[in-house]
Amino acid sequence: MAYSFAAKLISVSKRYSDVTAVKHIDLEVKKGEILGLLGPNGSGKSTLLKMILGLVKPDTGVINVLGVNLEADPFAVKKRVGYVPEGSYIYEFLTGLEFLDFAGDVFQMNLDEKKKRIEEFLKALDLEGREGDLISSYSEGMKQKILIISAIMHKPELLLLDEPLNSLDPKSARIVKDLLRKLASQGVATVMSTHVLEIAEAMCDRIAIMYDGQLLALGTMEDLRQRAKMPNSGLEDIFLELTGTGDVKPIVEELLR
Ligand SMILES: Nc1ncnc2c1ncn2[C@@H]1O[C@H](COP(=O)(O)OP(=O)(O)OP(=O)(O)O)[C@@H](O)[C@H]1O
Ligand SMILES: [Mg+2]
Repeated sequence: MAYSFAAKLISVSKRYSDVTAVKHIDLEVKKGEILGLLGPNGSGKSTLLKMILGLVKPDTGVINVLGVNLEADPFAVKKRVGYVPEGSYIYEFLTGLEFLDFAGDVFQMNLDEKKKRIEEFLKALDLEGREGDLISSYSEGMKQKILIISAIMHKPELLLLDEPLNSLDPKSARIVKDLLRKLASQGVATVMSTHVLEIAEAMCDRIAIMYDGQLLALGTMEDLRQRAKMPNSGLEDIFLELTGTGDVKPIVEELLR
C-alpha cells in the first residue's frame, strides 16, 4: 500500500490514572530515517513507542503506521514492525535459539530464511555457541542482543527501539549501529529512544526531545542548534538548555553537603 510516512501521529495523548504520560503529540516519521527520541526519565518516550507499536492505546488522537490506521486495524501492521522493549524483558525459560525460533514463527518467516538469518545474526553478534543455553543464564548484553535480533530478523519496515544499545559492548554496539544505518539506506524507518546523546548525535537523522509528555523540539542537529541559539554546541549542551536541566552544580553540592 502506498503511504507517505512510516508513522504519523496526530494529537496523541495517554494518561495513566493521575499521570499524563504523553500530551497531544504530533509527529511524522519519514521512511528511511533514524529518529532519535530523547528526554528525561519519565518524559513519555517508552509510552510513545508503545503507542506506535499498538501495545498501549492512546486516549486521544490518531496513529497511522505504514499506511494503516492503528485503531481501525491494529494487527495489520504487526508483521511489518520490529520492537525492542526497554529493560530486556524476555522469556528467561527458553534458550536463545528457541526464543528466536519462536519470534520468527510469530512473524511467519519462511523456515529456511529464518534459520539462515538466525545463524547470521548469532555469528555477527558473537553469540555463536551460546544459543543453546537458557536465556536466564545470559548476561544483560546477551539478552539485549537476542531482543535486537528478534526485532530485525524478519525485515520490518519500521523499527521501534527503546534504548537498544544499553549494555552492548563497543563491538556489538558498532555492528548494530552500522546495521541500522544500512537498513535506513534501504528505506527502513527507525524510532530509537536513548539517553546516550553521543549515539543520538552520531546516528540520528533527526532528533525529537520530549519533556513532561510533550514534544519540546524536533529536527536535525542544525535545527536544534538554531532553536537553542547555540550554533556551535553539541547535543548534550543543547539538550540541557532546552529541557532546563543544565544547572546541576547546586544539586551536586547539596548532595555532598
Ligand atoms: N503502566 C503505567 N502505569 C502508570 N504510569 C505509567 C505507566 N507507564 C508509564 N507511566 C508513567 O508515565 C510517565 C512516562 O513514562 P515513560 O515510561 O513513558 O517515560 P520514559 O520517557 O520512557 O522514561 P525513561 O527515560 O525512564 O525510560 C511516567 O510518569 C511514568 O510513571
Ligand atoms: Mg523509557
